Amino acid sequence: MSSASRSALPAAVEKGDLMPLRSENHAAAAIVDPQLALPVTMRRPGVVPGAAPRGQENAEKTKPRLRLDHVTVHFGKRERPAISDVSLSIAAGEFVALLGPSGCGKSTLLNIFAGFRAPSAGRVYLDETPHRGPSAQCGVVFQKHSLFPWMSVIENVAFGPRRLGLRDPLGIARDLLDMVGLADVAHAWPSSLSGGMQQRVGIARALATRPPVLLMDEPFGALDAQTRSLMQEELLAIWERLRPTVVFVTHDIEEAILLADKVVVMETLPGHIAREISVPFPRPRALDVVSHPDFVELRREIADVIRTEARKVFR
Ligand SMILES: Nc1ncnc2c1ncn2[C@@H]1O[C@H](COP(=O)(O)OP(=O)(O)OP(=O)(O)O)[C@@H](O)[C@H]1O
Ligand SMILES: [Mg+2]
Repeated sequence: MSSASRSALPAAVEKGDLMPLRSENHAAAAIVDPQLALPVTMRRPGVVPGAAPRGQENAEKTKPRLRLDHVTVHFGKRERPAISDVSLSIAAGEFVALLGPSGCGKSTLLNIFAGFRAPSAGRVYLDETPHRGPSAQCGVVFQKHSLFPWMSVIENVAFGPRRLGLRDPLGIARDLLDMVGLADVAHAWPSSLSGGMQQRVGIARALATRPPVLLMDEPFGALDAQTRSLMQEELLAIWERLRPTVVFVTHDIEEAILLADKVVVMETLPGHIAREISVPFPRPRALDVVSHPDFVELRREIADVIRTEARKVFR
């Protein structure tokens, strides 16, 4: 991945050629409106010198982009719900990491946000309107890549823009593949790529329709440490420029703190939210923030919450 291509945004996005669908107008406007990109949650002020409590005074005025209201999910006839009574509010442009032990319902929550699954009880809102099914406003990157094996890499990425009738779907796809460092394999079959490369194509595909909401389920879990770190940097750069609302599932505490405005720690049996923790580090964030003493302290704090929970499960 060259440094030039890694930091470049898709030209079509830069030029404004990626026009939102009519139904997306409000949401797309929020991406470029810094007022609407402010997080709802209050920061812990003063933890890091220079850490701005970004938009604190405006936070209450910001309408949530995504909202769960007392959501419970039952699977089949299981007595215990997978997720119980989860309420969560995510502001437009906020980056939220979902963290928690295996089986606590992170993927289930992401599917609820994506509209792939309806809650058994409670409500889901997108821009304060009931969210009743999959929508072009939500781009999804799955835990395991889900590329169409019968389409070339570039056709996979162009698929969404083509379906939405956007101008120059192949141009959009080319720009995004360049951005994730895969321009050279645009015409290859997905099966000929490594797992990490396939996942990067998945990310390019999710971004291709410029969705205001990006839902990512352990997108970097299968990548080697070096590629993972590059992709984290890339994702931060994309988020800084486009300010989509991101829900990012991960098992990795460091990754969660590095990327997110807010870390939501989940517990299991049944899945519920244990803590919502605001991340106070200023942006743009450099990767070396991980060695800051406050970062280390926050990582320890979150690890304690997760460890306490894990102990309960093994009792
Ligand atoms: N389709 C399904 N049918 C029945 N039970 C399911 C289904 N999907 C998830 N579950 C159950 O719901 C609970 C939460 O699962 P989920 O996959 O959301 O957890 P997770 O936090 O994403 O786990 P991991 O970190 O391992 O990916 C688990 O107990 C799981 O067995
Ligand atoms: Mg999962």
